[in-house]
Amino acid sequence: MRKWLTVRCKLPQQRRFRLAIVDGFAGGGRYQCGAAGSPIIFIEELKSASEEVNAHRVVQGLEPVEIECLLVFNDANRDVINLLQRNVTPLLAGTSQNNPTLHLRVEYLHEIFEDAYPKIKNLLAKGRFRNVLFNLDQCGSSHVRQETICNIMHSYRHAEVFYTFMIDSLLAFLRKDQPEKLRKQLDHLGVCAVGIRESENSLSPRPWPVD
Ligand SMILES: C[S@@+](CC[C@H](N)C(=O)[O-])C[C@H]1O[C@@H](n2cnc3c(N)ncnc32)[C@H](O)[C@@H]1O
Repeated sequence: MRKWLTVRCKLPQQRRFRLAIVDGFAGGGRYQCGAAGSPIIFIEELKSASEEVNAHRVVQGLEPVEIECLLVFNDANRDVINLLQRNVTPLLAGTSQNNPTLHLRVEYLHEIFEDAYPKIKNLLAKGRFRNVLFNLDQCGSSHVRQETICNIMHSYRHAEVFYTFMIDSLLAFLRKDQPEKLRKQLDHLGVCAVGIRESENSLSPRPWPVD
């Protein structure tokens, strides 16, 4: 993401870059071992990106770019969102003190992602965001409809979707001798059985070619 931002903030005359990051299955922000979850990783990446971009611009004698980002953190579990809020608040306070060119605003939602999507679209429309990144780190493989992904891709000028999909368990579940079960599993993704079999083949370890 840092690389993506660096590329998007390259124009010498650019003074502002606005984007929205939607973490649809955000989690609590930190695991019990202390490791950062996706919302914290996004904030840290934004901090490093704004520092990197602007340090580079200073060397080139250019004015800094102000990065304005709306972060929408959603998780179906209200307790998880409360925990996330507790983890994120001190980080945001530090950012507004130490990163004057980075402007972050956070909206928290606690809904099933598909139910929250119309609300999220409204928030993005209100803010007139054209650069959007959706992180869809779902548990399993069926919490995001294919139409929603298509809708995201068609609704914004620059849309990126990180879509997590439990391919291993799905492939284990799929029985080649049960074509109807297979079709039902894949329907919501718009993937046909032949396509998944091809990807399964490409994922299998292949013998090393021998001359
Ligand atoms: C794999 S975890 C997310 C991990 C997080 N992205 C990270 O990197 O730390 C999935 C989260 O999605 C939430 N969840 C499960 N089903 C959901 C749904 N339909 N809509 C929104 N959130 C959901 C769970 O409460 C859980 O916190």
